[in-house]
Amino acid sequence: MIVSGSASQVLAAELAAALGEPLADVEYDRFPDGELLAAAPGVADADPDRVAVVASTVSSDAHLELLQLQDAAREWGADEVVTVLPYMGYARQDEAFEAGHPVSARAVARAVSAGTDRVLTVNPHEDAVCDFFDVPAEPVDAAGRLADPLPADLADPVFLSPDEGALDIAESVRDAYGGGAVDYFEKTRHSGTAVELTPSDADVSGRDVVVTDDIIATGSTMSGAVEILAERGAARVFVTCVHPMLAADAFTKLSRAGVEAIYGTDTVERPVSEVSVAPVLAEKL
Ligand code: R5P
Repeated sequence: MIVSGSASQVLAAELAAALGEPLADVEYDRFPDGELLAAAPGVADADPDRVAVVASTVSSDAHLELLQLQDAAREWGADEVVTVLPYMGYARQDEAFEAGHPVSARAVARAVSAGTDRVLTVNPHEDAVCDFFDVPAEPVDAAGRLADPLPADLADPVFLSPDEGALDIAESVRDAYGGGAVDYFEKTRHSGTAVELTPSDADVSGRDVVVTDDIIATGSTMSGAVEILAERGAARVFVTCVHPMLAADAFTKLSRAGVEAIYGTDTVERPVSEVSVAPVLAEKL
């Protein structure tokens, strides 16, 4: 039985189809005082052996829905409750940035652990975030699938990551594409929206470039990269990421920077979510 959070309905349906499992009829309501109620009354008598709650925690509401659906799944008598976090919110807050700060990723991991037997999460910012869960938790790598929507005719392509930490994702996309150079920028973050990028030494003049990262949040990182590549004479610049959060004006920033196309997965459901991670999750379920 696949049970979806409201922000993950497309992926949950794909996953149910891939596994041949039923998709629960979930109702998402809100009380007059603002409190949420996510429930699936029709499942109560279904007596499922296993329930997989699929919910990207893209907002505080999505976190709450997930906790409610996990709790309901226990009530239905499932032998196993699996929590699938296609996108794990707060994963980037994986340390206390100043004295007195919380480790927010640990806080949410503990809360999620209380209602599940195991956790799968797709390309968390650092795999080590899985250690914060009190139940077995496994990162699932979907980066290779980002090569699928790229044109087959890339000219002498260069696959770049905006920092060294995302180099493995760029390598996965290059390997899945079947060839090309790989390199990375040096990145210094000055604030939530201000980043400074130092170009790699790769010669991009006249070549197609694919910039790949785990997430596009404000788009500051990626739009900065696209601008630099345009100045250095790159031909087409494609942007790919696992989690296309695209907060606020991120899409506009990238368009104004001159990006050729943006491709993301359905861990965060957006118009650019061309790639489904359902097949890689199905393998782990
Ligand atoms: C940071 O290390 C991540 O890999 C991303 O590069 C970053 O979170 C992207 O954020 P933004 O889109 O706000 O620049």
